[in-house]
Amino acid sequence: MTTPGNEFLDQTRHGFGAYVCARSTGARVDAAALAALCARLGLVNEFDGRPADGESVAFLRRQGAAAGAIADDDVLRADWVIHVASRRSGIVETFCQDASKLLVPARVRVLSGVIGTKNYTGAAMNNWAYARAVVQQPGAVMPNAFLVPMSKTADWWRLDWMQRHTYFLPRYDDSGRMTSEGHALAAAEGIACMLRRTYRHPVEPAPEGTYDFITYFECADADVPTFHAVCEALRDVARNPEWRFVREGPTWHGRRVASAQALFA
Ligand code: HEM
Repeated sequence: MTTPGNEFLDQTRHGFGAYVCARSTGARVDAAALAALCARLGLVNEFDGRPADGESVAFLRRQGAAAGAIADDDVLRADWVIHVASRRSGIVETFCQDASKLLVPARVRVLSGVIGTKNYTGAAMNNWAYARAVVQQPGAVMPNAFLVPMSKTADWWRLDWMQRHTYFLPRYDDSGRMTSEGHALAAAEGIACMLRRTYRHPVEPAPEGTYDFITYFECADADVPTFHAVCEALRDVARNPEWRFVREGPTWHGRRVASAQALFA
């Protein structure tokens, strides 16, 4: 039987985004110039919590970080992360280039990606996993930001998309007993309290030195333990066999702040 090829996957790009990760060298950064750049590009500040639908920016200050299987000092040791999103790739590119220059001599690394059509989500999964998910809240309500870049192994990309699809659902034995929860059910506790955003690399698998996925989460202080519990559930390959194929970069934890000025204060 021929396996269904990737030509059936939808290649539509619904948006573009990037995280500009910077490590301070102690030199002063011109926050006013960064704020002016955001204004010039018409970026709405996500801190205000109006769900961003178009051009937006967010300023995230380091709280801590944990190393992952993929060594990445630039993310692990970043002091500041600036998120930019747009429906137009040019806005994101311009922001990243100009912001990187403004941040010099800080050490800067840009993680960027696209929002694509979901590959494994039908109507019921959409209703269950996305339609009732928490939307972006003001920074004061959900101040925690987690950046979790990751890639999947060559073995994953060798699977056809129908087989990849099966890892997002529970598995059952012939008697109907659930043998594993799969990605969506293992992570269910996070739906109501974790804002989720995933950029994919435009090319899958992503080239060496880049990530397949850049996932990002926001939550309230009270829900930080849930964030960690959801990550642990996903990493437990007995509950979620998909993670056998995952290699995580660092988990970077930041605090959402109100402005460019507050980022460098
Ligand atoms: C909080 C509850 C969560 C739910 C309900 C959930 C559900 C889902 C679903 C349904 C998909 C498939 C999307 C598609 O159709 O393409 C997906 C993809 C993905 N999720 Fe989650 N997820 C959650 C949390 C997380 C967390 C905490 C991480 C990482 C730490 C994560 C990482 C990913 C990645 C990287 C993909 C893309 C995988 C691929 O295309 O191979 N998710 N998630």
